[in-house]
Amino acid sequence: MYIYRKRGIVGPNWKTPFIGPFLESVNPDFEKYYAKWTSGPLSCVSVFHKFVVIASTRDYARKIFNAPAYVKPCVVDIAYKLLRPQNWVFLDGKAHVDYRKGLNGLFTRQALESYLPGQEEVFDHYFDAFIQTSKKNGMKPVPWMPDFRELLCAVSCRTFVGHYMTEAAVKKIADDFYLITAALELVNFPIIIPFTRTWYGKKAADMVLDEFAKCSAKSKVRMAAGGEPNCILDRWVVQMIASEKYRERLAAGVAPEDAGKPDIVLREFTDFEISMTLLTFLFASQDATSSACTWMFQIMADRPEFLDKIREEQLAVRDGDRNARMTLDMLDKMTYTRAIVKETLRYRPPVIMVPYMVKKDFKLSEDYTVPKGSMVIPTTYMALHDPEAYPNPESFDPDRWITGDAEKQTKNWLVFGTGPHYCLGQQYAQLNLMALIGKASLEVDWKHEITPLSEKIKVFATIFPQVRTVPFLA
Ligand code: HEM
Repeated sequence: MYIYRKRGIVGPNWKTPFIGPFLESVNPDFEKYYAKWTSGPLSCVSVFHKFVVIASTRDYARKIFNAPAYVKPCVVDIAYKLLRPQNWVFLDGKAHVDYRKGLNGLFTRQALESYLPGQEEVFDHYFDAFIQTSKKNGMKPVPWMPDFRELLCAVSCRTFVGHYMTEAAVKKIADDFYLITAALELVNFPIIIPFTRTWYGKKAADMVLDEFAKCSAKSKVRMAAGGEPNCILDRWVVQMIASEKYRERLAAGVAPEDAGKPDIVLREFTDFEISMTLLTFLFASQDATSSACTWMFQIMADRPEFLDKIREEQLAVRDGDRNARMTLDMLDKMTYTRAIVKETLRYRPPVIMVPYMVKKDFKLSEDYTVPKGSMVIPTTYMALHDPEAYPNPESFDPDRWITGDAEKQTKNWLVFGTGPHYCLGQQYAQLNLMALIGKASLEVDWKHEITPLSEKIKVFATIFPQVRTVPFLA
């Protein structure tokens, strides 16, 4: 069967019965992925019962991302149990498009601006905490990944649910979130057995769902009383309330043109539905932003000349007042900081592969049709390291976004995917990374000892430096 499906594309000539290369995939190795991508534009492998086609060129990757009639995002079986089968991310076709439209209002410019004060508060809190940690440690190097993951989790929670969640709950979610990531890795046993990774992951996901549902109930009360919306949850609830009022006016016989139709008319969502959606936001953001942030801070420590330029720009956009609070206008003016964020995302893209499931036989090339039921995985990394689009792609060069033509390479910019499932949080994620490094450049200093492994890639859902002790923040 494997040989039949493989036909002419590159891949092993045989597979271990049943499990395929499961054992090597448990500890995925970037060099092996890279070897697979460079082995041919299409290559294959078989894991458990799944036949997997890997697409490495930009054009194949785009063709897959943009073929919703043939493919849908593929998640490991366990994801249905963790995120719940009725979760919106599992919707397909029109149902997915419609649900997504209802979420767009949560990421408009105006919405993003209203989340900034909350984010800045979290940055202030954590930068102070980092300085205390460094002082307590006598300014000796400390592994900082756990602290940074906590910061990013706290920023996400503040943006998603404002002050409805206690600090203790944020800390617990940050501590336990890697259990969810580990359970949802591409290769895992597909059933939940007590005390295994998937079992711990399910428990953590249940806890997060419960916390978000409690926040939703609180937001509904506060927004109904006319409170000011300052997080994603509040904005969603406000839209629901406005939609309900509109429906009531229509039902009372008010003419549609006088009934005050909101931009987006939403149905009523239960606390649990809202909490499932917020969990998908957290799931989508936590690892990807942790990855981007880790690389960005490390790369800036190793190339202080770039960090100096960020500092200069940050002071300039604040008219010399380092305590000025952040606005969207300021972020718009941060040309250099934006270039650093974009180059970090290009150079070390957090999401290197996006698995899709083939719904019906999919003719990917003249010679090859991916059989229905296979998994097909477009790679973002190769498009982002394509020397034709980004000359000298292995060099970290922010200027390519300012004086070069990197900005014009929109077809290669696959950091956030493309097509109907492109990242919903892409603007938010980039602004958040700019705000974070910008503020950090003014308030803290940090150092990193360069080693031969510093920029080598370790894969754990997303990608991280192989040595994750970026010493120290002061
Ligand atoms: C640097 C950070 C991030 C990166 C690199 C990233 C990357 C991606 C990628 C590659 C996809 C798949 C796109 C596709 O299949 O075409 C995706 C989907 C998604 N992302 Fe992000 N993401 C990031 C941050 C975020 C944040 C902060 C949020 C939420 C606030 C978010 C929400 C989502 C959602 C909801 C989806 C699924 C969309 C759908 O299926 O319709 N992401 N992201």
